[in-house]
Amino acid sequence: MTSHTAISSRWSTRLSFMLAATGAAVGLGNIWKFPYIMGENGGAAFIVIYLLCIVALGIPIFIAELLIGRRGRHSPGYAARQLAVESKRHPAWQLTGWVTMFTGFMILTFYVVIAGWAMSYVFKSAQGMFIDANQAAITQLYRGMASSWTEMIIFTAFIVLATAIVVGNGFKQGLERTVRFAMPVMLLLLVGLAFYSSAVGDFAQAADFMFRPDFSEVTATTVLVALGHAFFTLSLASGVMMMYGAYLPASTSILSTSVWIAIADTLVALIAGLVIFPLVFAYGLTPAEGPGLIFQTLPLAFASMPLGVFIGTVFFIMLLLAAFTSAISMVESIATFVVERFDISRWAAALSTCAVLFSLSLLTVFSFAQAPWAQLDVYLFGKQLDNWFDVIEHITSNVLLPLGGLAIALFAGWAVKTQFMQAELNTSARAFKVWQFLVRFVAPVAITLVFLQLTGMLRL
Ligand code: PFF
Ligand code: NA
Repeated sequence: MTSHTAISSRWSTRLSFMLAATGAAVGLGNIWKFPYIMGENGGAAFIVIYLLCIVALGIPIFIAELLIGRRGRHSPGYAARQLAVESKRHPAWQLTGWVTMFTGFMILTFYVVIAGWAMSYVFKSAQGMFIDANQAAITQLYRGMASSWTEMIIFTAFIVLATAIVVGNGFKQGLERTVRFAMPVMLLLLVGLAFYSSAVGDFAQAADFMFRPDFSEVTATTVLVALGHAFFTLSLASGVMMMYGAYLPASTSILSTSVWIAIADTLVALIAGLVIFPLVFAYGLTPAEGPGLIFQTLPLAFASMPLGVFIGTVFFIMLLLAAFTSAISMVESIATFVVERFDISRWAAALSTCAVLFSLSLLTVFSFAQAPWAQLDVYLFGKQLDNWFDVIEHITSNVLLPLGGLAIALFAGWAVKTQFMQAELNTSARAFKVWQFLVRFVAPVAITLVFLQLTGMLRL
């Protein structure tokens, strides 16, 4: 049992929880990463496999995190500790909570830098810097930003400070109020962009690319990329959903809300595809462009399309809002832990967390800016890593996320007393059995396969 008092704040309404959880899930993963990995992995066939992964693995673990959080009623580390003790298990099981919090924090250190890029692009677009630009000019604009540590520090500092202010304001005044404003605006902008893009872009070719599967192109790697992304996109194994579960009223149905949030996250990713690909095809750009897709390719479409300055600016504002609500979600659990552990005010916790966050984000900033001290030359789990950003990104996505997910599945499926989970899930015996089967067997096996593949121990 922990000596800290249980969390007493609760989501005001089911909707505000849905907005917050959707806000945490929807982010750079949906708008920046999903379109380009779909583009690189063959479009529609990738989407089909990804959807299977969301259903068989994403939703069950999402549910597991909410169950643990609500039963534990503390920040993730303490919640896991409490459940381990109550279930008479070895205290080492609490690592499940601590590791995921650490993972979320490490993701956050580069996430805020990329969110800063989105902010920088809002200004670039609004200033008309894309007008009539050709590929060389856009590439130069992108490289200029991603090599200037002053520019990156300014925008990163902005994001981190804004995050600290939201979290410092407390659960209701900060987090809840922000998502209730930011998420509807973000979703509205996204849908508006999709309509516009389908009208001026090549909708037919985009729809063909996204919705007509060709399984002949599918390889084992496609499956594994889809599985890994299912994880990242729902913010699993990052402490976020465990924390949000701790604020859930006892009466909320965890099963149905989890399904809805997964659907919402998936829809946003698909709609983002419908914003991006009609433009990509209409302007003769290539879908398999990789990570530069929205920062180096899409601006080319904004450069020549009608209302390009306005649409480009709206696009990056939308991206910024999506990234910001994810950043807040990651700071929330850390700051709550700091309050519990050190018994200091919420403001002090948020500000000190964000000060550490900002310092660590410099590792990513200076990796991109190619400062000599940030360059590395290491070979880790079958991959060459050139700088600190590479190391942090690689270790979180490919090692900590799968390991954390595995730990959560095993913890919720085997370690925690079945009757605790059954009481929290509060659904039919059959639905509970299905969930339990998925976290006990399906998720651990699938995650182990991804892990072995990504770390190069298994070559498919
Ligand atoms: N789910 C976020 C996205 O799709 O952009 C990424 C993410 C946010 C992962 C927060 C982990 C996390 F803790
Ligand atoms: Na996402």
